[in-house]
Amino acid sequence: AEIVILPDADAAGSLVAREIAALIARTPDAVLGLATGSTPLPVYRALARLVADLDVSRVRGFALDEYVGLEPGHPESYRAVITREVVEPLGLDPDRVRTPDGALEGIAHAGADYERAITEAGGVDLQILGIGSDGHIGFNEPGSSFASLTRVKTLTAQTRRDNARFFASPGDVPMHCITQGLGTILRARHLVLLAFGEGKAAAVAGAVEGPLSASVPGSAIQLHPHATVVIDEAAASALG
Ligand code: F6R
Repeated sequence: AEIVILPDADAAGSLVAREIAALIARTPDAVLGLATGSTPLPVYRALARLVADLDVSRVRGFALDEYVGLEPGHPESYRAVITREVVEPLGLDPDRVRTPDGALEGIAHAGADYERAITEAGGVDLQILGIGSDGHIGFNEPGSSFASLTRVKTLTAQTRRDNARFFASPGDVPMHCITQGLGTILRARHLVLLAFGEGKAAAVAGAVEGPLSASVPGSAIQLHPHATVVIDEAAASALG
């Protein structure tokens, strides 16, 4: 992967937002792969400013993942987060932006449906990724197959602790999610992994410097011919 170390998250956000705006300018029906969580927020904020001058009416988006079993419209469902942080500020067409369906009814075929939708859209042009402190990308927790496709996974205790900040109490964090697989992510044409802060340093080192291991799902990016890692000094601090 190409590693870019910048002073802070805002600088990283502007850099990646400029890359995405350029993609949209040359490909008005670009397909964006959208991550949730805290990491990509500076990208979305910078991009909202840049796209004011662009036609985004044909841009499509696919979120990486969704919690399973939250009631529809739950403010911390990734559908709600993507609507709030991406669709509305950028002015995207909500019908062109999808999240995996985490409703219990239909969960058995939701993964295959999502894979089909991504394929029918022509695949993801640029996939934004964060990384979990346990090395996950998407919600592919340690032990995920590099060939995996969109499916239901159990969140690790560490991820549920990390994400408890978004919920009223730690017990409210769902146990399960539906996530694009590592195989799904690797099909995107360009991967852009972002990470900020010391808490991500070990995960970043594992992902970038290997060894390739299902125990560090982020290491899958080493298999991708066009992966860019955009991090701050703290997140770079464990690199050799
Ligand atoms: C979110 C996702 C996760 C997060 C990761 C880091 O869609 O797929 O892999 O990117 O958990 O989360 P933050 O950015 O909140 O530290």
